[in-house]
Amino acid sequence: MNNIPIPSDLINDIILSTGINPKTASIREIVHIVNLLEKKTGTSFVRMEMGVPGLPAPAIGINAEIDALKSGVASVYPDISGLHSLKEETSRFIKLFLNIDVSPEGCIPTVGSMMGGLVSFLVANRNDKTKEGTLFIDPGFPVQKQQVKMLGHDYYSFDVYNFRGKKLRAKLESYLKTGKISSLLYSNPNNPAWICLNDEELSIIGELSVKYDVIVIEDLAYFGMDFRKDYSVPGKPPFQPTVARYTNDYIMLISSSKIFSYAGQRIGMMAISNHLFDRSYPDLLRYYPSDKFGHSLVFGALYGISAGVSHSSQFGLAAMLKAANDGTHNYRNDLKEYAEKAKIMKELFVKHGFKIVYDKDIDEPIADGFYFTISYPGFKDRELLWELLKYGVSAISLDITGSDRNDGLRACVSLVPRKLFGDLDIRLKKFSEDHD
Ligand SMILES: Cc1ncc(COP(=O)(O)O)c(C=O)c1O
Repeated sequence: MNNIPIPSDLINDIILSTGINPKTASIREIVHIVNLLEKKTGTSFVRMEMGVPGLPAPAIGINAEIDALKSGVASVYPDISGLHSLKEETSRFIKLFLNIDVSPEGCIPTVGSMMGGLVSFLVANRNDKTKEGTLFIDPGFPVQKQQVKMLGHDYYSFDVYNFRGKKLRAKLESYLKTGKISSLLYSNPNNPAWICLNDEELSIIGELSVKYDVIVIEDLAYFGMDFRKDYSVPGKPPFQPTVARYTNDYIMLISSSKIFSYAGQRIGMMAISNHLFDRSYPDLLRYYPSDKFGHSLVFGALYGISAGVSHSSQFGLAAMLKAANDGTHNYRNDLKEYAEKAKIMKELFVKHGFKIVYDKDIDEPIADGFYFTISYPGFKDRELLWELLKYGVSAISLDITGSDRNDGLRACVSLVPRKLFGDLDIRLKKFSEDHD
């Protein structure tokens, strides 16, 4: 149904009734407003605001969880450092898909990478009393800054778009040389811009992390999703790019939410490098019973937060990792759908006068993936967001992501069914006619 544009009064009334401030509305608040608008107008929105998987979870994970529950794990506290088989399969996964050795001891389940980030900050930002903060290579996932703030740590950030390739070195060094940075975080591929840092950039990050003794937190929430390359064949190059090739002290966050569409089970893995796991930081004794990084993380931070991760979900993830490792489940075959949809959707936006904000990955066009970014001439980001709602299209503003751009929106492809592409075309056409 294309009863658009939706009258402004109707939208304003709904916003007013929720008490939400349109200038600061968060992702969840926008979701709430769009839910109300869909109900009131009977129009199915082209929903691009939330980064949730739009594919079913693999049966192999679900069945392993059911079997585990039937065998009685629900009544038993899981081992805080993780199920033995899950640790083994994660270590194997890292070897087969990244060509990196991380011992099973350092592979630890968390309640999603969300918790992986929190636990990393809790230990990495407390290992040296002369430092206390995270440097975010932005644009990025806003909640991670919220976590750092919640903990009372400092943070610094910069938009990487104009500092790609060799230019990254001087920019990074300008922050690291302050001596205040304990940890450095980025996601690769990047949420929201879908920039993919390459080996040259990762080697600069690695080299500087060694020089300034900074722990690198590499967020691989979109593992293997730079679809220009096929990283999904176990044990065969090309391997997913990683900073682990260039530094000793790193933590990789491997979420199951997108690669296995397992967001609902809230499980992810953190992989702490062997060197970091065993490293001693006397200043950790201010907070934890041990000066060892790995011990403090597991028996200090993780214990204090949740004492481990839901038992059955660990069986589910172990089974899916095993299938990927054995080559019996190719995660990429399912996920490719995101890239195919992104290609079509980007073309529709561009056809109707929109621009792709983060349009280049150094010298190539940005890849097709889970997110893309859009702007429309003459509009600031939030203005565009609310104006597009009238046309039954929802997204989020880049202003919450640490982006330097003040005119962009992030669009997520996952929840847009192909059957709505026709409507998207009509709505964007109408939008551009009305704003010419
Ligand atoms: C960059 C990034 N990191 C972490 C997460 C959280 O992942 P999880 O669902 O495993 O907590 C997300 C989720 O969207 C993300 O985009």
